[in-house]
Amino acid sequence: MSYREVTPEILQELREIVGPENVIAGDAEKMEPYSHDEVAEKEYAAMPEAVVKPAAAEEVSRIVKLANREGIPVTPRGAGSGLSGGAVPAMGGILLSVERMNRILEIDRENLVAVLEPGVITNEFNSRVEKEGLFFAGYPMSLEMCYIGGNVAENAGGGRAIKYGVTGRYVLGLEMVLPTGEIVAFGGKRVKDVTGYNMTQLMVGSEGTLGIFTKIILKLLPLPKAKIDMMVLFEDVQAAIDVVPQIMTAMRLTPTGIEFMDRLSLETCCEYIGQDKAKYKNAGAFLIIELDGNDADTVRNECLDIGDLCLENGALDAFVAEGPSDQEKIWSVRKHAAEAFKAISPQQSLEDIVVPVSSIPRLMPVLEELSQKYNVLIPCYGHAGDGNLHATVIKRPEDTEERWKETLPRVLEELYVSVKELSGTISGEHGIGHKRKKYLPLVLSEAEMEAMKSIKRALDPNNILNPGKMFDL
Ligand code: LAC
Ligand code: ZN
Repeated sequence: MSYREVTPEILQELREIVGPENVIAGDAEKMEPYSHDEVAEKEYAAMPEAVVKPAAAEEVSRIVKLANREGIPVTPRGAGSGLSGGAVPAMGGILLSVERMNRILEIDRENLVAVLEPGVITNEFNSRVEKEGLFFAGYPMSLEMCYIGGNVAENAGGGRAIKYGVTGRYVLGLEMVLPTGEIVAFGGKRVKDVTGYNMTQLMVGSEGTLGIFTKIILKLLPLPKAKIDMMVLFEDVQAAIDVVPQIMTAMRLTPTGIEFMDRLSLETCCEYIGQDKAKYKNAGAFLIIELDGNDADTVRNECLDIGDLCLENGALDAFVAEGPSDQEKIWSVRKHAAEAFKAISPQQSLEDIVVPVSSIPRLMPVLEELSQKYNVLIPCYGHAGDGNLHATVIKRPEDTEERWKETLPRVLEELYVSVKELSGTISGEHGIGHKRKKYLPLVLSEAEMEAMKSIKRALDPNNILNPGKMFDL
């Protein structure tokens, strides 16, 4: 499918819709930040022809109608912290940034819901609701920069999914602009709603291919009164991973998170953020285990019990974080992992594989084998407690560019096939975007792909909304 260019006349129309100061065109330096997300590989970047920053649903609607009339692609974008290219204008055209739609419109305490615009920074929202004794359970590792709109578009997961699930569980309603420009509202401030198809949840995780959110209604929880974090060191990766399923079965406890890092990940991160690695001793891997609840003593005892279980299963040491600053330090290394690896090499592929929790011990030998067979580095960290691991395939410095280009797709394909054999899949939280689209048929059948494509064709007959993502039509 070929698209039309953004002509000077169209730029003029866009300026009339959002105001001249909210359109960027013909300025490569100012547009460059909108040409990529956090994916390390440069090949997934693409320049927009125009960056447009609407402030209201009506403006978004007018832009999308114009794009349909003229045959121009529109790519919606939040903070650009994504990891599969979802917010990158793969086919050029208009990049629609929601950065100006950044208001928390309402915190409705009686109904335990909040209404937000898509450009609100997730962490700012978290802090705001916490001040009111409320809790939003979404916890992506990029929370200091990502937007809530992007979290919903990608159905972001993160570090609390075991107990609280992922973003979609908290999305009760969406006001959005459909790919043909109509403004609609699916769902609402209701816990129950079976009035027709569950369009709200279809839109969650649709990666900006089925509509542009203009208002998001989120479910809140009462803020748990106590939270505790523990770090447990292990001799090697397998020992750390083996204990993960046991914490939930033998202990009958549901931590909020069980996060994992191997040695290379923790060393790379410590160097990147300037943290002393002495406290990790010679550990080959560590887990961060977080628990919450309303009674501090109970939570602490549960934590100590888990610590004992880990020690009985070969852990080298376990420390409980005392107070928020200690908690912050423990999490800091973990939160910066993707950034740290990105800083050392763009020749890498940050993966997002996910398997049923009981299968994660069997994933470790797969990674080890692939790394040996193809002579690549595959450090690994991630959300072990929910089976979602960020194995990162990295070119060895001594390897040639040519060999790397040929090796990476083979490693990925073999990895994905093994993951599928373990009843897993290729993305748990980062999405498909254009980074993984060629691998989607490895895990979805033709009929499954066709069902998705039918939805896309029905809602976006001109294929103007975020084309080139997830699959080609
Ligand atoms: C993390 C991001 C990469 O878990 O998802 O650090
Ligand atoms: Zn993650």
